[in-house]
Amino acid sequence: MAHQWQGVIREYQDRLPFGPDDEIVTLGEGGTPLVHAPALDEKTGARVYVKVEGVNPTGSFKDRGMTTAISQVLQTDAKMVACASTGNTSASAAAYAVAAGLESAVILPAGKIAAGKLAQAIVHGAHLVAVDGNFDDCLRIARELTDRYPVALVNSVNPYRLQGQKTAAFEIVDALGDAPDIHVLPVGNAGNISAYWMGYSEYAGHTTLASMDETALHLPPVATKTPQMWGVQAWGAAPLVLGHPVKNPETVATAIRIGNPASWKFAEAARDDSGGWIDRVTDDEILAAQAFLASHVGIFIEPGSAASIAGLLKAADAGKIPSGATVVCTVTGNGLKDTATALSGRSLDFTPIEPTLEAVARTLGL
Ligand code: F0G
Repeated sequence: MAHQWQGVIREYQDRLPFGPDDEIVTLGEGGTPLVHAPALDEKTGARVYVKVEGVNPTGSFKDRGMTTAISQVLQTDAKMVACASTGNTSASAAAYAVAAGLESAVILPAGKIAAGKLAQAIVHGAHLVAVDGNFDDCLRIARELTDRYPVALVNSVNPYRLQGQKTAAFEIVDALGDAPDIHVLPVGNAGNISAYWMGYSEYAGHTTLASMDETALHLPPVATKTPQMWGVQAWGAAPLVLGHPVKNPETVATAIRIGNPASWKFAEAARDDSGGWIDRVTDDEILAAQAFLASHVGIFIEPGSAASIAGLLKAADAGKIPSGATVVCTVTGNGLKDTATALSGRSLDFTPIEPTLEAVARTLGL
């Protein structure tokens, strides 16, 4: 029977804090592809799948949490939502605010947002505030602003965000028939690793530090196990690896340029309770992983997302991946959001040639 994907709230309603009669805001997020990547099998000796979150409506995983956060705002008197962002949260908040008939304000670190993400916030009509500071400064201001004014905070410190984001773990178990052995993902503000751990745990029949009371378990378990959670940070923005906040985080992967993650405790619990780890990779490793996925698998991701692939490859080099293990890497955002970084360092010659078949064939070396 024909089925149109209904968005994550309706698809997973029995595991989310919404009733069938609640008004919800959706752009059809979720239901993203889980792509087997033979080129990564070859590099790792495992069976590797890539969860392609860049195909969500605004091009990143943030949409899963924005449908839930903004739907909850509809139950309040707030007419405006606000967030701090390294780019993707602001794009998503701006789009879902439009769908909800709300205004949005996005507080961004000046000069550190990829062009595509900035364009999204602009075309969706967000009130844009560029701050002379980093993401951590922006989040502090967003928290204070939403405490003081009738504006709803839609960063992942809003528990409804993680509720929506946990559905990615549900989809993976639904697709594979059980949880993978290992799940690898990039870590910035640390909401997503916390949300995946919650999703995997709830599907296996137990709750986590981040779980909400209302969604405590009332359904039989779906999975027989939970994966090890492997988190990957950028070298110059790796507070969870170092064990202390980083004052001036720096990385080419601007999406994860964060020095003091809000979900610090949840992420540590995800790491420790799952028997996993959080490591860091260099900017060069991130860019190499981005190029590898584009040229050997066929998926174009943004640098922040490539941290997970870089972390996987680094773990493989260190012999940390059990042979034949099932591994899922989340790639969190679409490469089209930041073409400047993807093209930097490549020599491109677009000098036009004569408009003839012969000239084209000669250029192609045919
Ligand atoms: N990957 C991408 C593409 C992101 O945009 C982010 C976070 C992450 C990974 C890390 O996820 O924060 O849950 O650990 N972006 C946020 C933003 C901070 O403002 O768009 P996290």
